[in-house]
Amino acid sequence: MQLKTKILKLDENNIDAEKIKYAASILRKGGLVVFPTETVYGLGADALNQNAVLNIFEAKGRPSDNPLIVHIADKDEVYKLMMDIPDDAIKLMDKFWPGPLTLVGKKTSSVPHSVTAGLDTVAVRMPKNKIALSLIKEAKLPVAAPSANLSGRPSPTTAKHVIDDLNGRVDVIIEAGNSDIGVESTVLDITLWPPVILRPGGVSKEQLEEFLGKVDIDPSLMEKNLDMLIPKSPGMKYKHYSPKAELVVVEGELSNVVEKINALVEEYKRKGLSVGVLSTEQTKSLYNGAVVISLGDRLEPKTIASNLFKALRDFDDIGVQLILAEAVDDKGIGFAIMNRMKKAAGYKIVHIS
Ligand code: TXA
Ligand code: MG
Repeated sequence: MQLKTKILKLDENNIDAEKIKYAASILRKGGLVVFPTETVYGLGADALNQNAVLNIFEAKGRPSDNPLIVHIADKDEVYKLMMDIPDDAIKLMDKFWPGPLTLVGKKTSSVPHSVTAGLDTVAVRMPKNKIALSLIKEAKLPVAAPSANLSGRPSPTTAKHVIDDLNGRVDVIIEAGNSDIGVESTVLDITLWPPVILRPGGVSKEQLEEFLGKVDIDPSLMEKNLDMLIPKSPGMKYKHYSPKAELVVVEGELSNVVEKINALVEEYKRKGLSVGVLSTEQTKSLYNGAVVISLGDRLEPKTIASNLFKALRDFDDIGVQLILAEAVDDKGIGFAIMNRMKKAAGYKIVHIS
């Protein structure tokens, strides 16, 4: 399917209502509109229109057994999509919406099976980005939206990433700068109590624990070998976020990590490979003989989250064959960062003590 993609430039602090009206009209007609959210760009369609939803899967090349998140602009919309919601989950919505928390609960009959990939649960979130909210409000529809990348590629955190992947495959791309958070929402299963984190993301485990007392973690997130377990969040089983180059994560005490990466750079260069290093501000000057990209400041892990996907795509553009990545502390947003980094590496991890 080759479409003429219209690119609409919008400013979150000064939203052009006419452009929002146009994009909303495309959604209402069953078209595909890419829009910014505070996490990553989303590829949206009318969640209640089975055909429109099927077109999302086609545009992304997404396996049809991987369900989509439905985006709403008003908390009360959740009751049309989800039922048997525990009172404590409503408190979660009050606390964390709008924001990077997706709740998985029992679906109502109005949600098409294509959205939930046949599951009897639905994932819902209310994004924080003002453009996303005004688009959904104007369309007066719940909007199904996965990340706006080709399936398997790193999620898009700039409109350029979206255009690289989806130009000619969608009707509209809203261009609106860099995503604030840079990793996707936390997916939380509220059909169980305490709720279970199915995917770590923009709201940290610690933030949820502080509010809920206890939160569980899906066992597939704790294991290196995903094939051993059947993840509850179907999306977690696919190879994901992958740059074209082979990626290897090196974890352990930081000075040892730097030493190990330098030794690996030497070894692979001798074999004739071009090598990249994903470093941090604290370590970027310590590497020799490789293309170095700094993800950000170890003391400000948010900077690392917001740069990770871009850095993986930048290495694709540069064209290195092997990327060696420093692991970071997996506290707070670091849990989501390490989850994405290890998945991008296909769980190739070197641990040095
Ligand atoms: O931040 C985000 O969540 C972004 C922005 C665009 O909102 N969206 C996003 O969507 O990351 P996607 O499709 O790339 O990831 C959705 C994740 C997948 O891992 C999927 O398996 C899981 O949510 N999911 C969706 N519905 C589910 C359900 N009913 N039960 C369990 N997991 C579900
Ligand atoms: Mg995705």
